[in-house]
Amino acid sequence: MQTEDIITEQSQVAALIGNPVGHSVSPQLHSLISKSTGFPLTYLPFKVDPQDLESAVKGINALGFTGFNVTIPYKCDVIKYLDGISKEARLIGAVNTVKCSREGTYGYNTDADGFAKAFQKETGSDLKGKTILIIGAGGASRAVSVKAAIDGAEKIYIVNRSIEKAASIAEIINKNVRSCAFAYGLQELEHDELSSACNVIVNTTSLGMHPNVDALPVKKDFEFNKSQIVCDIIYNPLKTRFLKLAEEYGCVTVNGLGMLFFQGIAAYEIWTGVKCDDGLLNELYNSFYRSIKFEL
Ligand code: ATR
Repeated sequence: MQTEDIITEQSQVAALIGNPVGHSVSPQLHSLISKSTGFPLTYLPFKVDPQDLESAVKGINALGFTGFNVTIPYKCDVIKYLDGISKEARLIGAVNTVKCSREGTYGYNTDADGFAKAFQKETGSDLKGKTILIIGAGGASRAVSVKAAIDGAEKIYIVNRSIEKAASIAEIINKNVRSCAFAYGLQELEHDELSSACNVIVNTTSLGMHPNVDALPVKKDFEFNKSQIVCDIIYNPLKTRFLKLAEEYGCVTVNGLGMLFFQGIAAYEIWTGVKCDDGLLNELYNSFYRSIKFEL
């Protein structure tokens, strides 16, 4: 990136904090968005050590940054250092986007919206009325599960190696959104009653992510039904072994790049107030997809 691209009189600055941050494609995404909207936002990644998290948050705000993204491992820990968070982020228990202002720092979870928007764009349908199987019960699962409940999913089955983590997400949903969530251990996937009742299956675990591309979140003889929509929140590789298996059954598949794209767009809109219309979104989506394929 050229220095003149970075600093102009109107430049707003946003940060990414996490550890590690070197692998992140968010700087590329925000550079692409800024160039297309013509609204200068400089986006800089910072690796922050755990003992420095509070001072990093306060420092970013004190320096007048427009906001920041938070990535692994601070999406939950950052909450205690913020002045306020949205209701959705509170339910999810994680924040990935923070808006800074004179009034203080305010946190959002745009991962949840990112998943729902990517699902909508790539499948032409939404989560309303669907029975959804979600594999994994970490931070990403919380965002996807809570969002599915808010958006009107009929039933949500959360399956995890440690069942107590799945149970805790189901409890949050059943108490605060609607009684529609159920928790199971991973062994439940060995019988196909649960999965065959689902319209949508989502992998939120890291199984299959580069470099461990041979790993699968299900047994290799797991059977899909061709009417199911199968999603993986992993985007590196773009097609995980899980998605390849689903394709063999004729399923529509959705990878994690769309979720990453739409969470970034939502963050950009929160920081700058600039709305991307549908035409621009399509253009950006296509260029992001093209650029990213060659760089992973
Ligand atoms: P993230 O914030 O990206 O969701 P995370 O909070 O570390 O990441 O969650 C990772 C998820 O992948 C968890 O559901 C984890 O299962 P546990 O809760 O039982 O740890 C799941 N996971 C990771 N490695 C796994 C493995 N080898 N087998 C089964 N599940 C695994």
